[in-house]
Amino acid sequence: MSVSDFRSDTVTRACPAMREAIAGAEVGDDVLEGDPTVRRLEEAAAAWLGKEGALFVPSGTMANQVALGAWTRPGDEIVCQRFAHVTTFEAGAAGFLHGVQSMTVGGDDGQMDPDEVRACLRPRFIHCPPSRLLCLEQTHNWAGGVVTPLERVEALSEVAREAGLSVHLDGARLANAVVASGVSAREWCAHADSVSLCFSKGLGAPVGSVVAGDAAFLERARLVRKRLGGWMRQAGHLAAAALYALEHNVERLAEDHALARSLAGRLGALEGLEASAEAVDTNIVMVGVSAPGRDAAGVAAALGEHGVLVMPMGPRRLRFVTHLDVGPGDLDRLVEAAESVMQG
Ligand SMILES: Cc1ncc(COP(=O)(O)O)c(C=O)c1O
Repeated sequence: MSVSDFRSDTVTRACPAMREAIAGAEVGDDVLEGDPTVRRLEEAAAAWLGKEGALFVPSGTMANQVALGAWTRPGDEIVCQRFAHVTTFEAGAAGFLHGVQSMTVGGDDGQMDPDEVRACLRPRFIHCPPSRLLCLEQTHNWAGGVVTPLERVEALSEVAREAGLSVHLDGARLANAVVASGVSAREWCAHADSVSLCFSKGLGAPVGSVVAGDAAFLERARLVRKRLGGWMRQAGHLAAAALYALEHNVERLAEDHALARSLAGRLGALEGLEASAEAVDTNIVMVGVSAPGRDAAGVAAALGEHGVLVMPMGPRRLRFVTHLDVGPGDLDRLVEAAESVMQG
């Protein structure tokens, strides 16, 4: 049975043109004399993000952890949103790899209040861990692909910089924020000292991310990437897919966002499911399960029997993500399956 896979935008498979780019990539040993396609990707990504340079790494997790390693020393504290990927979904890597702890701020909506951030910064006091880095996330995964408004990002960044902290932006889905807001990547990134960007989510590449910043940051980041084993050899084949993604798949994210809004509206109209199109900023839709006696895992399993895949995110919350490999036909199939499951 074919499936309609709404679990994540990471499930996409390379299209024929991307596969051609992968096969035809000019490559070298990136650790020895350098890989020309990796270099092209790093230059293109850095230009798009408005940063001096970028490093290609295998994953978004590694991009974030390279940045953390470049900015912090053991015993430091990072400040981030309560459900930020960097503290919630990276398996404790910040502590495991770099010996840093997290101070978290905010709640389910994925937002941080600048005054609350200011208030949680540590005084310079021998008993306290030094507050070193503010981590932002755009769009916010856990909160449902929410775009933090530019004025808020500016205010948060100002609080950090006034206090001498650096700012890292987890921009795994920054391209979605760019398309949804009309604010360029450069403009978002002007408020951060380093930024990570994933090609393997809405942009549709099979693998790969970059972490970008200025020359001093990149020098430290290169060493951390080496230590983590993330400096790859003929990675130009992967970089070619990422370049293709950056060149062809940014603007079309608007289609994913429109499909996500439609999905929220149609599922929200069903008895026992809670969602609204107005709450959807980008390509992630969080749907509440309010039907008595039903839970997210049960509804997800029942949808699975209809060939529709979706991810439970908590006991009564389902996450649906739109991407290159689902279209209006998959949405019709989902709605039909959901009608049958919720009546059953
Ligand atoms: C906001 C955010 N940052 C980082 C990552 C990590 O990316 P990866 O799965 O490539 O390690 C994800 C993955 O979903 C994410 O949503």
